[in-house]
Amino acid sequence: MQWYRRPILAVADFGPVEQFTRTNSLFKGLVNRFVAGETLEETLPKVEQIASSGITATLDELGENVSSEAEASAAVETFIRSLRGLSERSLEPNISIKLTMLGLDLGTEIAKANVLRILTVAREVGGFVRIDMEGSQYVDATMDLFEQVHDAYPAEVGIVIQSYLYRARADVERAIARNARVRLVKGAYSEPATVAFASAVDRDDNYLRLMYLLLEKGTYPAIATHDTALINAAKAFAKDHGIGLDRFEFQMLYGVRRDLQTQLASEGYRMRVYIPFGTEWYPYFTRRIAERPANATFVLRQFFDRGKAD
Ligand code: FDA
Repeated sequence: MQWYRRPILAVADFGPVEQFTRTNSLFKGLVNRFVAGETLEETLPKVEQIASSGITATLDELGENVSSEAEASAAVETFIRSLRGLSERSLEPNISIKLTMLGLDLGTEIAKANVLRILTVAREVGGFVRIDMEGSQYVDATMDLFEQVHDAYPAEVGIVIQSYLYRARADVERAIARNARVRLVKGAYSEPATVAFASAVDRDDNYLRLMYLLLEKGTYPAIATHDTALINAAKAFAKDHGIGLDRFEFQMLYGVRRDLQTQLASEGYRMRVYIPFGTEWYPYFTRRIAERPANATFVLRQFFDRGKAD
């Protein structure tokens, strides 16, 4: 992990910083850059607009670590509405979900029942559900739950694997063995050196190796990164190994490297954008800020200058 990520994520966890960021209108522009809307209804037209430029989407209602079954059930309802809303507009019904939003902290069985409710609808509308990967304390439970639901819904559900984790290669091999669709990412959480590479070079080297493995042996892998070196390596590898452009896709986040998204789509590559929406944007937003020092400097400057503005 880059040296600046951990302190930025720690500062973001500090109550007054969160309160300030949530309530200060100065951040509206920056939040809107990464988060498409507060409601599904506000967000669907943006998916339509993006689709018109040949780019597909995966919709994510933001939220994590719910503390009641009622909150988890409300999330299920929104995910189901998302699948149906996309399908009714003739958009690909593709969503991303987080297990802690579906009650993983309350018990695996609760989360599993909620995921199955979503997958039933996904099958009905011909859709696809990606289970995002969260902090390392959830990886075992997420992989196990994923494999259980993948047995019943092999075409409808996929997983995310983070290249910063030492265990990533073993997880990629497990996924390949069961023909499961993998989204490969670098990883966005603050992790200790006991479980994750401390250096960005090691994390990126691992990404490259796992990306090649997935392109060669995986089932429709998603290369999810904005890193041009890795994207160029994927393009070259696919060309050299005769891997058709319909056998994998690139994925990027809403609001990040739009120029590159459009360029890849126009070159004929499959390009999908991860589109988050909802009111619980703070943790997602802080991870995006921590990825780029320029973004973090802006936020911290506003925070420390607030006395002057008050
Ligand atoms: P890297 O961070 O090295 O960035 C490469 C370049 O991209 C930067 O130099 C900059 O130009 C640009 N860039 C990257 N982030 C930016 C930002 N926030 N603002 C502005 N520019 C930026 N993680 C996870 O742990 N679990 C998950 O389930 C997912 N899911 C997911 C889905 C999709 C579609 C994507 C693209 C990413 C994720 N991630 C994720 C996040 C991922 O782990 C990682 O934190 C980010 O993608 C940033 O890493 P890059 O691969 O882009 O490389």
